[in-house]
Amino acid sequence: MKDLIDIRELSTSEINQLIEVAKEIIDNPLDFAERCKHKKLATLFYEPSTRTRLSFEAAMYDLGGQVIGFSEAGSSSAAKGESVADTAKTVECFADIIAMRHPKEGAPLVASQAVNIPVINAGDGGHHHPTQTLTDLLTIAREKGRLDNLTIGCCGDLKFGRTVHSLIAAMSRYANLKFVLISPDELRVPEHVRTEILEKDKIPYEEVHSLEEAIPKLDILYMTRVQKERFFNEADYIRLKDSYILSPEKLRQAKDDLSIMHPLPRVNEISTAIDSDPRAAYFRQVKNGKFIRMALILKLLEV
Ligand code: NCD
Repeated sequence: MKDLIDIRELSTSEINQLIEVAKEIIDNPLDFAERCKHKKLATLFYEPSTRTRLSFEAAMYDLGGQVIGFSEAGSSSAAKGESVADTAKTVECFADIIAMRHPKEGAPLVASQAVNIPVINAGDGGHHHPTQTLTDLLTIAREKGRLDNLTIGCCGDLKFGRTVHSLIAAMSRYANLKFVLISPDELRVPEHVRTEILEKDKIPYEEVHSLEEAIPKLDILYMTRVQKERFFNEADYIRLKDSYILSPEKLRQAKDDLSIMHPLPRVNEISTAIDSDPRAAYFRQVKNGKFIRMALILKLLEV
């Protein structure tokens, strides 16, 4: 495997191995501190990011490697009209591995086909975000001690939220899972996710509107931000942006061992009063992102 563009390119045993390596790194970080000495990661970010880019960069530094890149398209030659393939071919002259985020679906795939070094999809439009999903899987494994036998509620913008699409694609391989998809009608999970993943793999799911009604049965609640940048129309965004707000009152009906996750950034969808609840896993999730990206870089560089 050269690249990671879609989470389905990883077998279950490869995912489990990445999780095991990430746990080893968590326990013995110094053992990994020089594994990528003299290697360079290029972060090519054509879209805003805090966690994904910084965790990739921190991951490479913690492996003893170095980082180059750009954090906005406007400061790269994309602003002059350079193609993604040409930019990738240029970066290949300087770096050993690329992490790319792009507003256009498929851009990291195009880059991966243009170069011989590994390309990691760090989020392509409303499509997929496989390294967020690896982060989510490590988080679920650490919080719950298992990746099977779970009822997972995904709440918010399930239409444009790429992290949800990749999460569903990844979880479909584990036994005895159930999804509760909580969204307004306008922000339902896209047809292709329903037919090509949920229905094809015979994963039980229900689509509901009410977070309050769904909450008592959930083992994991995966909240998402309404993806403002993917809306065509400001009025629709304003109407839908506060569809769901998780408050301490709504949590009263939840299980004691619920894990509350969110890829972040949060806007209004989780009240800050919940941050101190032991069930709030979203900042632990951020931390896990660096460790699993370290494991992924090691795998793709075959270190
Ligand atoms: C997500 C993304 O970029 O898709 N953030 C992230 O990478 N942690 C979610 C979001 O932007 O809402």
